Amino acid sequence: MKVLITGGAGFIGSNFIRHFISAHPGYEVVNLDKLTYAGNFENLTDIEALSNYTFVRGDVCDRQLIDSLKFDAIIHFAAESHVDRSIIDASPFLQTNVIGTQVLLEAARKRGCRMLHVSTDEVYGSIETGLFTEESPVMPNSPYAASKASSDLLARAFHETYGVDVVITRCSNNYGPYQFPEKLMPLVIANAIGSKAVPVYGDGMNIRDWIYVIDHCRAVDIVFHKGRSGDVYNIGGKNEQRNIDIVKKLLVEVARKGGMPEERLLDLILFVKDRPGHDRRYAIDPSKMERELCWGPETGFDDGIAKTVEWYLANRGWWQRIISGEYQSYYEMQYGKRAGS
Ligand code: NAD
Ligand code: DAU
Repeated sequence: MKVLITGGAGFIGSNFIRHFISAHPGYEVVNLDKLTYAGNFENLTDIEALSNYTFVRGDVCDRQLIDSLKFDAIIHFAAESHVDRSIIDASPFLQTNVIGTQVLLEAARKRGCRMLHVSTDEVYGSIETGLFTEESPVMPNSPYAASKASSDLLARAFHETYGVDVVITRCSNNYGPYQFPEKLMPLVIANAIGSKAVPVYGDGMNIRDWIYVIDHCRAVDIVFHKGRSGDVYNIGGKNEQRNIDIVKKLLVEVARKGGMPEERLLDLILFVKDRPGHDRRYAIDPSKMERELCWGPETGFDDGIAKTVEWYLANRGWWQRIISGEYQSYYEMQYGKRAGS
């Protein structure tokens, strides 16, 4: 089987390809990635020489390119993925996340092949109490979440209207190696190592459900092979954490593992102006995955945090190259005027 994986040079996509190729050595993988600011060729240097792996640089919106590729199934990770950037400019989010998904759905329809669409728990919006189930209403609050909700519903519509073999996953917040340093966890680790202020939005009491990236990758693999056509599957870590607690935990871990004074790192915390439309709480019920597909998260939070901090300490070159480029102007635009809530 030849599988087209989109967005494989990003955080989850690169972890997924590494997992997928080792779990299914008989498959061929074509990684289609535009290499936007978030895509990084370095993420997969360890597998680029494998004979069953091919990299194609290109845009998921490019119909001609997609038509020219040979594949038997699609796993679609490619997206603009950062909420804060979608608040600055929603246009690339609508283009890639909605139009790009439509192009891939058309390709799956033409070929009669399965497409797994990687959606997100953010499509549900914010929940005060209880958990999101697959039946919860879709109520996105950011332009990013709205673009993902649109693509998620488009995937459903292609299944209902044309009978395309679609499966959809909605996962909670991932963390682990190769995450771009604009997201909370790697940003905290990088700033702590560089003795820079650690920005916490609002009162820091927003809650996310965190899952180690490899547990998400295992879940996508299982849904791809065993998921019921047309179904949605929630994936979560059963691990709700307040932002401020995560930030403190990471700072303590960096101090311990990086040989830095804990008090000095904790002093770096800076409460800043809140994110507009900031979702207060995400909480996923993954029991359908457990019940029907025998999947569950395997990495405990302490273990996952330890591995993540170790990886960023051991791979400084990887993220220091990223934060020394265009990222500087993004950081200034995002955080320059934010200080002091
Ligand atoms: P990421 O930003 O790290 O990576 C996205 C990748 O997509 C990059 O390699 C980028 O170059 C590529 N890309 C962007 N636009 C493209 C285009 N037009 N054509 C081809 N490639 C393009 O994102 P991520 O955090 O790895 O997320 C991957 C997917 O998982 C996304 O669909 C995201 O919505 C979803 N998701 C993410 C999380 C999370 O916590 N990070 C949780 C649930 C779901
Ligand atoms: O829930 C799944 C989603 O998780 C994915 O669909 C998104 O692609 C992914 O980016 C992530 O979205 P979040 O907005 O939850 O992740 P982020 O890392 O940007 O922020 C996590 C929390 O931390 C959120 O409440 C905002 C807060 N935050 C974030 C940053 C970057 C801060 O307090 N300070 C910061 O500097």
